[in-house]
Amino acid sequence: MRTAVVTGGNRGIGYAVCEALVGKGFRTVAVVRNGGAPPGVEVVRGDLANRRTVDTLASALRDTCDAIDVLVHNAGIWPTRLRHNDDGIEESFAVNHLAPFQLNLALADRVRRVVQVSAGLYVKGRVDLERTPYGRDFHRMRTYCDTKRANLLLVPLFARRWQDAGVTIDAVHPGVIRTDLGDPGGVLGAVLRVVKRRWASPAEGAVPIVRLADDTGSGRYFDVDTEGALPDGPAQALWDQARELTGAG
Ligand SMILES: NC(=O)c1ccc[n+]([C@@H]2O[C@H](COP(=O)([O-])OP(=O)(O)OC[C@H]3O[C@@H](n4cnc5c(N)ncnc54)[C@H](OP(=O)(O)O)[C@@H]3O)[C@@H](O)[C@H]2O)c1
Repeated sequence: MRTAVVTGGNRGIGYAVCEALVGKGFRTVAVVRNGGAPPGVEVVRGDLANRRTVDTLASALRDTCDAIDVLVHNAGIWPTRLRHNDDGIEESFAVNHLAPFQLNLALADRVRRVVQVSAGLYVKGRVDLERTPYGRDFHRMRTYCDTKRANLLLVPLFARRWQDAGVTIDAVHPGVIRTDLGDPGGVLGAVLRVVKRRWASPAEGAVPIVRLADDTGSGRYFDVDTEGALPDGPAQALWDQARELTGAG
């Protein structure tokens, strides 16, 4: 039986991805910080917040899974205010960008394929290596896009690094999906929830992600089902910085 690991499997798109992977016959392991996962899904408790917690999570996954056929980096946050983790890193840069990087390197000896949940909004992002990691250019609309762009810039580098080992990685924008992502709470949150009623369901968002679980290509970005352009940017400098900030590799 093939094994899949999904981060953020307790709600939103990640919950639907877990359900779909169970339906396809995967042994499915959800990385969950709070709450539970769908029936038939194993839970590994874990927090992607900082370098130390990601290290602990990597050890827990190593203990649980001898082989990981698909690792789905789904967990993500849209920060509505500036917060830093214990390492002094802006929280979404840590969760959306550094945590997948650190897990990829920590689990590289047992992962066969990675599916990175990206966001089409990466096109609105830009990465300033001096400021973005620390939230010095924090913006409640743009920081999410910046972190998603940083994360996506490293996908081709992982593809190249893993080519000879036969490990593959692709990224996918799941569509505009009705979840709690970026919910600011209060009146604005209530208005946003009404707007989101017209958006697609988490189950629909899971479809392009789960389709890629069975693919064998590498180094690509998909806007739902259509292959799209990868961003330009300081990929190698970001890689070096992520190594320094996480101690990975
Ligand atoms: N919704 C959309 O329209 C959309 C569009 C493009 C891309 N995406 C991407 O899709 C992915 C899933 O988003 P969603 O819409 O399903 O959002 P969501 O409903 O807000 O779910 C986010 C998930 O990430 C988990 N998470 C956040 N911080 C974490 C941490 N420190 N450690 C462990 N887990 C953590 C959450 O767990 P907790 O319950 O513990 O907070 C939750 O399971 C994200 O990568 C997002 O960028 C979404």
